Amino acid sequence: MNFIDRERPIGIFDSGIGGLTVVKRLAAILPNENLVYFGDTARVPYGSKSNSTVIEYALQDAKFLTTKNVKAIVVACNTASSVAISILKAKYDIPIIGMIEPGIEFALKITRNKKIGIIGTRTTTDNKAYSKALKKADEKINVFEKACPLFVPLAEEGWTKHKATYEIAEEYLKGLKEQNIDTLILGCTHYPILAGVIQGVIGENVKLIDSGIAAAELIKVEIERIGLINNSNSLGSKEFYVTDIPKKFKEIAELFLSSPVEEVKKVELDEIWA
Ligand code: DGL
Repeated sequence: MNFIDRERPIGIFDSGIGGLTVVKRLAAILPNENLVYFGDTARVPYGSKSNSTVIEYALQDAKFLTTKNVKAIVVACNTASSVAISILKAKYDIPIIGMIEPGIEFALKITRNKKIGIIGTRTTTDNKAYSKALKKADEKINVFEKACPLFVPLAEEGWTKHKATYEIAEEYLKGLKEQNIDTLILGCTHYPILAGVIQGVIGENVKLIDSGIAAAELIKVEIERIGLINNSNSLGSKEFYVTDIPKKFKEIAELFLSSPVEEVKKVELDEIWA
């Protein structure tokens, strides 16, 4: 492997800003890596769309990232991971990391009473990707899944402490509270943005699982395995692309990453059609 190969970026995609929660973790674990982010803001949310539509979008998103010569892709969207991960893995010969497997491994290490809650978009919970994989790993696990579709627009709006967010969280999480879960998987990359509210409502004795942490660790293992870790001494660059309203994305990204974002470029949807 040559020097240039190691400097190739890691690609990350999501329907919108949610994947920034993964970017934050990646930048902390792999500060020297160059990152390219693609947020499909023109078509967010993915979580209320059919499997076939999400698969089509995920293929286009990954294809766009490959035009940036990425050495690995993080599907920083649970919805896309729940339907498209095996298709993407079969299509590309670079490491493709989804959110579900890393999240599950993390949750299995944490739970004591084997009662795990999962919150995600409707498409993710309808696909039962988490419950199937958890049951496969340990059939004694009790899984409680709940779709929380309104969390995505609340996160996109930046309503991280708003009274309405608390009220909606109370409504969504009351069933899970009654189940005595000790672990709650944030099965949507937008949800860590609302972690303060979610933790406040579900209670301090429930451990929240942010799959982004586990996914970032896994990507490190994968690029080490293929000999492509970037061991340069300088801080990695970050490039951002969205399909709509770059200005809004830039504001939220700066707030969320607590660092200035130089430029967010707009990509026309017809550029990414497969
Ligand atoms: N952030 C995404 C996820 O992890 C999708 C949210 C959406 O577009 O509905 O599922």
